[in-house]
Amino acid sequence: MSEEGLLEAFRQYLWPAYTLYYTQPLTLVRGEGSYVWDAEGRKYLDFFGGILVTAAGHGHPKILARIHEQVDRILHTSTLYIHENMVRLAQALAEKAPGGLTTSYFTNSGSEANETAIMLAKMHTGEQDIIVLRNAYSGRTTLTTNLTGNAAWRPLGSEVPGIHHAAAPYCYRCPFKSTYPACGLACAEDVENLIRTTTRRGRLAAFFAEPIQGVGGFVTPPDDYFQAVADIVKRYGGLIIIDEVQTGFGRTGTYWFGIQHWGIEPDIMTMAKAIANGLPLGNTMTRPDIAASWKALTISTFGGNPVSTAAALATLEVLEEEAPPEKVAVKGRLLREGLDRLWEKYPLIGEVRGKGLMLGVELVTDRETKEPAVKATNAVLDAAKDAGLLIGKGGLFGNVLRIAPPLTVSEAEIQEGLEKLDRAFAQVQRAL
Ligand SMILES: Cc1ncc(COP(=O)(O)O)c(C=O)c1O
Repeated sequence: MSEEGLLEAFRQYLWPAYTLYYTQPLTLVRGEGSYVWDAEGRKYLDFFGGILVTAAGHGHPKILARIHEQVDRILHTSTLYIHENMVRLAQALAEKAPGGLTTSYFTNSGSEANETAIMLAKMHTGEQDIIVLRNAYSGRTTLTTNLTGNAAWRPLGSEVPGIHHAAAPYCYRCPFKSTYPACGLACAEDVENLIRTTTRRGRLAAFFAEPIQGVGGFVTPPDDYFQAVADIVKRYGGLIIIDEVQTGFGRTGTYWFGIQHWGIEPDIMTMAKAIANGLPLGNTMTRPDIAASWKALTISTFGGNPVSTAAALATLEVLEEEAPPEKVAVKGRLLREGLDRLWEKYPLIGEVRGKGLMLGVELVTDRETKEPAVKATNAVLDAAKDAGLLIGKGGLFGNVLRIAPPLTVSEAEIQEGLEKLDRAFAQVQRAL
């Protein structure tokens, strides 16, 4: 099919609900390492990885070989039978997860992993109330769209009772119009206020949050935020659920999981996206005593299937060998330095933030007023694509660039990405 024919057929046979990037939508046909190619043979440096999924790069030979090997043996077993891959993966994850989270329940997506976590927390505590953060994205099911704190991603409004949204720890746009640390962590205090004012008898099932808000625009809480919240939540009997769907597997550098930067131990942790480098897999991890609270039959037909788990085992090995968290931290610093230089050069950039290779660039029309530069963000995205660089965007206003190269990216590729982004900014800043 021609590019135009494909787009026409896409519009005819797929729901308008699909959100496509770019003024001229892009068709990808091949990927290798840090690069992808479109239908016309144009090559792009991929600094978004299909939404932070291809952590080990595209088409890694070791991962592909293990997938092929598994496909030739058995494709599907269901969770009614044991498959060794699933057990070995659960064991490998137990060795990496913080806080005695040694048991896994595998599903197919981040949304399912989050649903599972919330259901389990309710069963374990016997409570209904959940505190989540504004500006968060948690998935596309009924429950997870209700956890989500961004109206654009909430098609049905509030359908699940007991979900309360606390102020986000978003210092660049502080919900209390204050400044850290003079604010006294008012956003953490807001969690206690919500518990005392909106829950059943001041008890809650769980506090649920991403360490760095992904779709929310890589919003990165201050260093003492999670410890302060954990202290509050524990006092009222709640569990801490951490959504590592974007931050997991070394993405934030230094540690395997994002929350480890804040030094707290979650009771439940969810993961998906990069876990199998592109095959569908979700996982909810917890301690054995909490897992034992699931008192009902449950099944995920495809959850933890032999092929996805083969890919996940290989992905973990590749990340350990080629891109362990300490190495990601080093490459993250290089990327950060480059982005900080762009901040100095282009007034369009209000803030650069994030950790490791998960870096956000928030665009504003004016650094004083911080008016979100929505059009310019789309223009930079388009210009970067034209320069041969794919990046993402996010944020409540859609004015944050999300930059997340594969963790296996080379230093030369980071420099190449920075040069392409520089060109894109120069073009857009000039046209303003
Ligand atoms: C932090 C976070 N949690 C959950 C999800 C939902 O994952 P999935 O799209 O695999 O259902 C996403 C997806 O973007 C996410 O970013």
